Amino acid sequence: MTASNKARVVVLISGGGSNLQSIIDASQGAEFPAQVVGVISNKAEAYGLQRAVNAGIESAVLDHTEFASRAEFDQALQNLINQFKPDLVVLAGFMRILTPEFVNHFLGRMLNIHPSLLPKYPGLHTHRRAIEAGDAEHGVTVHFVTAELDGGPAVIQAKVPVLKGDSEQSLAARVLEQEHVIYPIAVKLFAQGKLKLLEGKAFFEGTALPATGLSADSI
Ligand code: GRF
Repeated sequence: MTASNKARVVVLISGGGSNLQSIIDASQGAEFPAQVVGVISNKAEAYGLQRAVNAGIESAVLDHTEFASRAEFDQALQNLINQFKPDLVVLAGFMRILTPEFVNHFLGRMLNIHPSLLPKYPGLHTHRRAIEAGDAEHGVTVHFVTAELDGGPAVIQAKVPVLKGDSEQSLAARVLEQEHVIYPIAVKLFAQGKLKLLEGKAFFEGTALPATGLSADSI
């Protein structure tokens, strides 16, 4: 594929950007149907910005503390994203709650990754909560973003076992490995036109997905 017929992806980050890196790495392949055209961080110190520089990708910082309200920040963010003319917006460790207006503007073309088997454990501290609950398995979900925090329909899930003696850190590391596997796959499937959000449901190749999305083992 040539750069001109690849889907244009803008990635939003707040931190280390290891998921960003996994998508950049996948997109180096000539046949990968998407390219990262822009990286935006709300934090100037985010290491992910360096990853963008290293890969020769345009990046920008939009500091939310410089805005009087969430609505004004989200409007500025929307304008900045649109300058890149994206086909897909990817939230990769972007630690902001988004206004419904922003979400609706990108509805059906914005994905997030959340480190739990949604609908279990939306919000923070998912690994700790899975351990404290005594869960035998935990994992990660890529989902379409809707106005409900971590509540949009699942696209892909990957499971990992919770092992005896796991700490929050050891479990998080096992989950993160799977994040790096499934996020590039979700981006690829979206870019191929195989994933759609229709009337609040996720569809894969024209068929409605179950609440758990595709299973990472099946793709
Ligand atoms: C990941 O665990 C992601 O699931 C969560 O934030 C973390 C981001 O990691 N939402 P990185 O910045 O991609 O390394």
